[in-house]
Amino acid sequence: MDVCFLRWLLFVALTTWTLGDDGQVTFVSELSSRPAQKLSKYGWYANVRLQRFHIPEDTAIAYWLFSVKKGHSFNCGQHNVSIHIRWGAPPVINPTETLFPNSTLWHPSLSLTLPVTSQSSTTFNLSDPAPGDWFVAAHLPEDDGRIEQKGFPSCSYYFQPQLSVRRAVDTPVLQQGTFLTQTAAPDRPAHLKLFVPEFASSLSVSVTECSSGEVAEGRNCSLLLRLGSASLQHSQATVNCSGSSCSASLSNPPWDTWLRVVVETSQVNQTVTFRIVSNYTGEH
Ligand SMILES: *[C@@H]1O[C@H](CO)[C@@H](O)[C@H](O)[C@H]1NC(C)=O
Ligand SMILES: *[C@@H]1O[C@H](CO)[C@@H](O)[C@H](O)[C@H]1NC(C)=O
Ligand SMILES: *[C@@H]1O[C@H](CO)[C@@H](O)[C@H](O)[C@H]1NC(C)=O
Ligand SMILES: *[C@@H]1O[C@H](CO)[C@@H](O)[C@H](O)[C@H]1NC(C)=O
Ligand SMILES: *[C@@H]1O[C@H](CO)[C@@H](O)[C@H](O)[C@H]1NC(C)=O
Ligand SMILES: *[C@@H]1O[C@H](CO)[C@@H](O)[C@H](O)[C@H]1NC(C)=O
Ligand SMILES: *[C@@H]1O[C@H](CO)[C@@H](O)[C@H](O)[C@H]1NC(C)=O
Repeated sequence: MDVCFLRWLLFVALTTWTLGDDGQVTFVSELSSRPAQKLSKYGWYANVRLQRFHIPEDTAIAYWLFSVKKGHSFNCGQHNVSIHIRWGAPPVINPTETLFPNSTLWHPSLSLTLPVTSQSSTTFNLSDPAPGDWFVAAHLPEDDGRIEQKGFPSCSYYFQPQLSVRRAVDTPVLQQGTFLTQTAAPDRPAHLKLFVPEFASSLSVSVTECSSGEVAEGRNCSLLLRLGSASLQHSQATVNCSGSSCSASLSNPPWDTWLRVVVETSQVNQTVTFRIVSNYTGEH
């Protein structure tokens, strides 16, 4: 058989350590792959191939690679493979475009369409993905009820998803009221985190004394300040900053969890240095 089945989760830690001695965060890359699964036409949810991936805390970017291979190379036309992705729970999908009652609460998942001739692949990348379980569902188009010719091998499609993450291993921790000095370069945003204590009713992260390396201090400094992580259903709180200081705040932050803070320079080729501090207010 030309399709190689990986019976077990393949987990490879590729150690691509970046230099950690210049005050920058150290990243490691991890790859996890799932066995190839034969796809079915969509009739109902049981025809969907579902796979689960775990994204660790402190993941800066997740790269998914979805590959589809045909089992036989007979001329069996071109089909579109549908791929759905969701954080926290299996994706809600609606390939038959059923109308749900207005009171039904559902959020469509992110969907990708992959046209497959003989072998195809597509990628999906997400910065600051929410940690935890992510689900990937895949299926062929809706069953058209056509009977396949007996005696001929029918077309089979094998789907294999792969996830590679880039994870920061020594993310600096922002303590309430304590300033940290950080640098953000064009291809290297500053990554930090802070712990949200119980009873925090709001929190803010402020950037001050922003300056660009190339120009005199005090010149315009353009930054993007992001709080939280991205889950496709929920996005991060993002603030565009220009000038030497700015802040982003969240009301009702999630208690007893780590909150991600990312600062990116938003001007091409500009490296900026700044001081950053967090502050929360509690309910007493
Ligand atoms: C596949 O999807 C594309 C874009 O959604 C569409 O244009 C095309 O007709 C589809 N092909 C088949 C065979 O359904
Ligand atoms: C559902 O909502 C749409 C638009 O808001 C409305 O036109 C339709 O009448 C509603 N259907 C029902 C069954 O309430
Ligand atoms: C995702 O990232 C990979 C590696 O950097 C790149 O090859 C690919 O084109 C990206 N895909 C998208 C959809 O941006
Ligand atoms: C934190 O926020 C509170 C209320 O907004 C303010 O009174 C206090 O001065 C702030 N503390 C710091 C260190 O910025
Ligand atoms: C800084 O740059 C932004 C966008 O490039 C601009 O809107 C703003 O007016 C500038 N501020 C100063 C003080 O130059
Ligand atoms: C920040 O600015 C960029 C470009 O100037 C813009 O595309 C983006 O929508 C802005 N984001 C917010 C949250 O204002
Ligand atoms: C950024 O730097 C590159 C290489 O030094 C240069 O070619 C490019 O023109 C610069 N872009 C801007 C907007 O300054």
